[in-house]
Amino acid sequence: MRKILILNGPNLNLLGKREPSVYGDRSFEDFFHELKEAYRDRAELEYFQSNVEGVLIDKIHEAGFASDGIVFNAGAYTHTSIALADAIRAVPAPVVEVHISNVHAREEYRRHSFLAPACKGCIAGFGLDSYRLAVEALLTPNP
Ligand code: DQA
Repeated sequence: MRKILILNGPNLNLLGKREPSVYGDRSFEDFFHELKEAYRDRAELEYFQSNVEGVLIDKIHEAGFASDGIVFNAGAYTHTSIALADAIRAVPAPVVEVHISNVHAREEYRRHSFLAPACKGCIAGFGLDSYRLAVEALLTPNP
């Protein structure tokens, strides 16, 4: 069974409470419980969240050698962090960048991602379903 880590960065612990008009009113724990159940027979899903850049780097180093893929919402670090991009490049597991909101339809500074060139692909704008689409992508054989 494929092991996939879902990794959330800063402020995503507040999903459900944080700017619900942008990010929805559902907690990630609630969504993750449902996702894990739905994929029970196809994947072993793990979830980790941190607000600290270095902790996210440590988790990428660990899961990047021990899992089959990482679904990563780096929050605002997406737009600032060369260190996270280097961590993604340092590990063999494919990483899919995800965003709940359509970052391209928001402020100009959200349009640039330091992570995207290091990732297998990017999914943005489908609400929490972006995470499910990323898991599907990691489970689908592709070149
Ligand atoms: C986000 C988009 C980022 O620009 C923002 O800083 C976040 C959340 C998203 O999931 O839409 O924290 O990654």
